[in-house]
Amino acid sequence: MNGLIDIHSHILPGFDDGPENIEQSIEAARRYKDIGVNCVVATPHRVGGTRWSPFPAAIIAAAEKTEAALNDAGVSLQILPGMEIACPENIDADFLSAQFLSLGHSGYFLIEFPFTSAITDTIRNVTGRAPGRKQPGIIVAHPERCTLFQDNGATLRQAVAGGMLAQVNIASLFGEFGAKAAATAFDFLRLGLVHFLATDSHARGNRMPPDPRQWERLVELLGQDVVETACMVNPGRMLRGEKVPPITLPDETRRNTQPPGHNRNIVERLINIFNK
Ligand SMILES: [Fe+2]
Repeated sequence: MNGLIDIHSHILPGFDDGPENIEQSIEAARRYKDIGVNCVVATPHRVGGTRWSPFPAAIIAAAEKTEAALNDAGVSLQILPGMEIACPENIDADFLSAQFLSLGHSGYFLIEFPFTSAITDTIRNVTGRAPGRKQPGIIVAHPERCTLFQDNGATLRQAVAGGMLAQVNIASLFGEFGAKAAATAFDFLRLGLVHFLATDSHARGNRMPPDPRQWERLVELLGQDVVETACMVNPGRMLRGEKVPPITLPDETRRNTQPPGHNRNIVERLINIFNK
């Protein structure tokens, strides 16, 4: 594959728990090129009231500087500015535009909801808004990892019906965030509630961008068409500010695809039942 776009990536050095230096960014960039990614949206964490509160201008400047440094190192990778915004108190379109960076200036904001607590009021605020009120472009970052969405499937359904988009982490599909996140990710895909797959790479340790073997596994799991839609076509639509449809799994994939280790989990569950 070629022309893939990663819409969620911690690739700018020195902003958050991503790369500590440009060398780590370059290493991650080489991995991206190996799997056919040639555009990455840099999404440093933005958590109000903490040291992770970068100004948009600083991210824009760092994205340009990092892209130039990658080029100098012989790795040609486009880096667009963005943010992963910890759910703010207000998610009105005007407020978001005034305070934060959207992904590649697209008007779509990547929002990370709390992993554990339920903040359904925020979702109701967006989905229940009066007709005619400006709709913010919101992408929910990895809902499969948040109990808010895991424990109540209707919450993401309501969010998507109200115009939000959802991005699932590729590593979640491989069970790297636990069996529950993996099962939830597959459920959301089967239900047509997912618009993007992204790496959420942190450019170090076990959170590097996928290598070619992992990418091959992803294609085996979901099929080439689905991966292209999730990692190229839909990201392109989003960056152009267009409407983005959910990913549709072909019937056969919907029926047969299970998270890796699925059978083991069933066995574990049965053992637990018999032990009780
Ligand atoms: Fe992230």
